[in-house]
Amino acid sequence: MSKLFTSFKIKDLNIKNRIVMAPMCMYSADKSGNSNDWHFVHYTSRAVGGVGLILQEATAVEPRGRISSNDLGLWDDNHIEGLKKIVDSVKKHGASMGVQLAHAGRKCEAENEQIIAPSSIAYSEEYRLPKEMTREDIKTVVKAFKDAAKRCIEVGYDIIEIHGAHGYLINEFLSPVTNKRTDEYGGSAENRARFLKEVLRGVREVWTEDKPLILRVTAEDYVEEGNHPEDLAELINLVKEDGVDIINVSSGGLVNIVPKAFQGYQVKFAEVIKERTGLPVIAGGLIIDPHMAEEILQNKRADLVYLGRELLRNPNWPLLAAHELKDEVPWPSQYERAKLRR
Ligand SMILES: Cc1cc2nc3c(=O)[nH]c(=O)nc-3n(C[C@H](O)[C@H](O)[C@H](O)COP(=O)(O)O)c2cc1C
Repeated sequence: MSKLFTSFKIKDLNIKNRIVMAPMCMYSADKSGNSNDWHFVHYTSRAVGGVGLILQEATAVEPRGRISSNDLGLWDDNHIEGLKKIVDSVKKHGASMGVQLAHAGRKCEAENEQIIAPSSIAYSEEYRLPKEMTREDIKTVVKAFKDAAKRCIEVGYDIIEIHGAHGYLINEFLSPVTNKRTDEYGGSAENRARFLKEVLRGVREVWTEDKPLILRVTAEDYVEEGNHPEDLAELINLVKEDGVDIINVSSGGLVNIVPKAFQGYQVKFAEVIKERTGLPVIAGGLIIDPHMAEEILQNKRADLVYLGRELLRNPNWPLLAAHELKDEVPWPSQYERAKLRR
């Protein structure tokens, strides 16, 4: 049996294998943040294809926290019904499902929103200048995360992922490049981690300790004066007692620089985070080969692996990977006649 197809238990959740579908924005919701048939088919297909844990795309906790006008939302009770249909379907087809709760901060490009950030610095010349958040704004956003987490219980998600990566609001607080505040939310690592800590505490008031929670981080800002994996490990260590169970390790997105990407380019970052925080990690980035996924797990470089674009190309990747690794996994009965046999 390969490691990729062993189950992974975290708190009350038993994930059937170690394959995670990375959160990927579809920019296909209506302007009120509602899901539709596209999302239903998209997520159900990956459950049918054998993914262990599906992480729903960045889902905004308030309208000004959207990346685009077509992001999914969880800022309103009206969002619950559509998302519940998706989650019920995904679970029926054997996968676990989580949602990535997000706030875009200065990278919000949704129409007619005043954008906010820890400091009033634009992402690039093409982006609007954000308003520096007041303490009142901070409280409002923390409450928005908490209220969204409460809705997650009604939707029926197995796990929540807090989006602390890719240069969005939480990441903007964590990095000294985007956080120039002189109050208790800026400066030292402890101060830069404060907003995240408050978000986690807010979420944990409703998403109780028995339920698992993932934090996604950008482990490398790709600028000298930004955060590097060791810095992220330090920041995570400051908040992990507030209820973080797993770290989903990504990189970049804080500044307008595209890193040189190659297969496994972020795995090293995941290893550093795992070693220095002692938490389980999800590693990924350009993983396409089942043997590579297996190597990462066997060598204990990560506990789970995520796939993004490869799962867009091939929703049945897990079923084919099992064959490649000589594992026996059940196929949907409807597809039994197509099952690859040795
Ligand atoms: C279409 C698309 C949308 C994405 N949206 C999100 C998102 O909502 N949240 C997030 O954390 N990352 C997002 N990402 C990044 C992916 O989660 C993943 O980290 C990245 O694609 C690298 O993995 P891959 O090489 O397997 O695709 C997105 C990537 C793609 C291709």
